[in-house]
Amino acid sequence: MSLLNGRVAVVTGAGSGIGRATAEALAKEGAAVFATDIDEAGLKVTAGNITAAGGKVETLRQDVTDEAVWDTVMDMAAQKLGTPSILVNNAGIAIGGAIPEFSLADWKTQMSVNVDSVFLGTRAAIRKMMESGGSIINISSVAGLRGAAGLSAYCASKGAVRLFTKAAAVECGRAGWPIRVNSVHPGIIDTPIWQKSITQLGEGMPVNPDMPAGANAMDADVIAAQASPMGRAGRPDEVADLIVFLASDKSSYINGQELVVDGAMTAGG
Ligand SMILES: NC(=O)c1ccc[n+]([C@@H]2O[C@H](COP(=O)([O-])OP(=O)(O)OC[C@H]3O[C@@H](n4cnc5c(N)ncnc54)[C@H](O)[C@@H]3O)[C@@H](O)[C@H]2O)c1
Repeated sequence: MSLLNGRVAVVTGAGSGIGRATAEALAKEGAAVFATDIDEAGLKVTAGNITAAGGKVETLRQDVTDEAVWDTVMDMAAQKLGTPSILVNNAGIAIGGAIPEFSLADWKTQMSVNVDSVFLGTRAAIRKMMESGGSIINISSVAGLRGAAGLSAYCASKGAVRLFTKAAAVECGRAGWPIRVNSVHPGIIDTPIWQKSITQLGEGMPVNPDMPAGANAMDADVIAAQASPMGRAGRPDEVADLIVFLASDKSSYINGQELVVDGAMTAGG
């Protein structure tokens, strides 16, 4: 018996990386997946993979910063697949840069994509699930737990996701809405966003204050190997497995928590 038979899951940023792996893993466990992204070509690949594996999927081009679209996404998913009981707020970007040169426009873009979207998605999901119940999983980062040089806006955005998640979990519980809300904090996961952030930060900017000397060399694999005591970057499916667990009833008393999946990167030196 699959963990998520009969469930409907909405996954944002499902056209790449962790979002794609999550959509595929949820479908593998029996959930019907409503996959959204601004990247329609990426979505097509994700949908093709799910269908080829015998899963059920619908796709939508969605910019997660667009409030008007969020107002309809849950209804569209419900019409096509059934009432959603899982939302994975995964879509995100990382804009790197030193604080003295960082523009307010970039700061606002970072917050809009990584934080406004999580608020809008969580609000839409709570409105839909407040009676039927569900699980909301917000993708933060280890950068939401500690600082990193050259990633101040990204860290601020992921820290906001962390505490918004806890507030939402408490509010749902106190209100009697049967919805759990948790955040997931990946370390270095081998996806396009990681490769891109290395390129952005490469010019003399240490990627992380805790990293060994020379870690700002522009080699993503070397940096990942140095940062994680396990000596490698994580894979998107290793994050997806945690998300499946949080989506399922196997985590029925885990609520308002921050779950780290980082190969011991933040566990110590
Ligand atoms: N890869 C890592 O090392 C890592 C570590 C910690 C946290 N994360 C987080 O995991 C999440 C997924 O990242 P990833 O590594 O899979 O990156 P990715 O770049 O592979 O995927 C991100 C997806 O989000 C989509 N997206 C971006 N802006 C969007 C918008 N406005 N509307 C809708 N979709 C949009 C992109 O098109 C892309 O498909 C992000 O929130 C990221 O911050 C990643």
